[in-house]
Amino acid sequence: RADLLMLGIETSCDDTAAAVVRGDGEILSQVVSSQEDLLVKWGGVSPKMAEEAHALAIDQVVQKALDDANVSESDLSAVAVTVGPGLSLCLRVGVHKARQIAKAFRLPIVGVHHMEAHALVSRLVNKDLDFPFLALLISGGHNLLVLAHGLGQYVQLGTTIDDAIGEAYDKSARWLGLDMRKGGGPALEQLALEGDPNAVEFRVPMRQHKDCNFSYAGLKTQVRLAIESRNIPADEIPISSATEEDRQLRANIAASFQRVAVLHLEERCQRAVEWALKMDSSIKYFVVSGGVASNQYVRTSLNHIAEKNDLQLVCPPPRLCTDNGVMIAWTGLEHFIAGRFDDPPAVDEPDDMQ
Ligand code: KG4
Ligand code: ZN
Repeated sequence: RADLLMLGIETSCDDTAAAVVRGDGEILSQVVSSQEDLLVKWGGVSPKMAEEAHALAIDQVVQKALDDANVSESDLSAVAVTVGPGLSLCLRVGVHKARQIAKAFRLPIVGVHHMEAHALVSRLVNKDLDFPFLALLISGGHNLLVLAHGLGQYVQLGTTIDDAIGEAYDKSARWLGLDMRKGGGPALEQLALEGDPNAVEFRVPMRQHKDCNFSYAGLKTQVRLAIESRNIPADEIPISSATEEDRQLRANIAASFQRVAVLHLEERCQRAVEWALKMDSSIKYFVVSGGVASNQYVRTSLNHIAEKNDLQLVCPPPRLCTDNGVMIAWTGLEHFIAGRFDDPPAVDEPDDMQ
């Protein structure tokens, strides 16, 4: 296994990322170029602009990943690339690049599902982590509870019926006038440390629904209303210029939002653990991954759920939780070793996705 070398390419959202990972899980390089300037300027990702940013960055990012790993294309065993879910304009940039390399160097291609990669990178982090396991995947666009029976064998226990938790963090952060440059989630987590988590009474979503689904749209609206009803001038005055009193109000909203947002996660996860153990009593691990899993409060809270149920929590380090090339390369390796990959594109085939 140690002689396998996988290049992973990720362009599904607003980060252009690439990495080289060895078959035994050794990370040889990891490069991420993010579009934070665009995010701040335009208040979100516009597919067209994101595509242009990826197209500008992709060659350099991939080259740096190869250089940092001290390998050339011809040393690679295969190329793994995210094929979905995500913005199709953006995905195409990565797929195009992967196909170019695969064609030129006669390398197999492994198409990777972005959410599967968030889940499976936990197996790189913890080599003992075997199937079956329960996984909570929390990011900007997805909120999934999955029972993983084996590679490619997943049962979905729950998903969001509207927004994902990361979307709620991002919007709340924007409405609170936070500095979005490092992302709304991290900014809100930071501010919440100064606030009273019980100051604002937000309703916990979906309590009447005894299932494992999520809903964050209502909580988002509650945050908006809390800001408006307290006449907090967050639209005009950024947090850095707020008065002491104003800052405290915003911190209280942030902390109260975070408490309820995560309580909702905990409640659904507790039920999912019960469901999962009924389906397969041999489950020993609880995986939590995706961008929001880099949040310390989230990690601590879900560790309680794991401990309470005698499961071991596996939560990748923050830089492997947010979008990255390592998880794509690693998931590519898992599939490649299992014999699931595509032959190199023929010389006369176009580089675009069919
Ligand atoms: O997995 P990811 O990097 O990209 C997607 O696949 O969406 O997740 C990005 C999401 C964003 O909504 C971001 O605000 C959130 O993860 N996030 C956080 C934190 N770090 C990133 N949310 C809360 N606390 C954090 N520390
Ligand atoms: Zn992601």
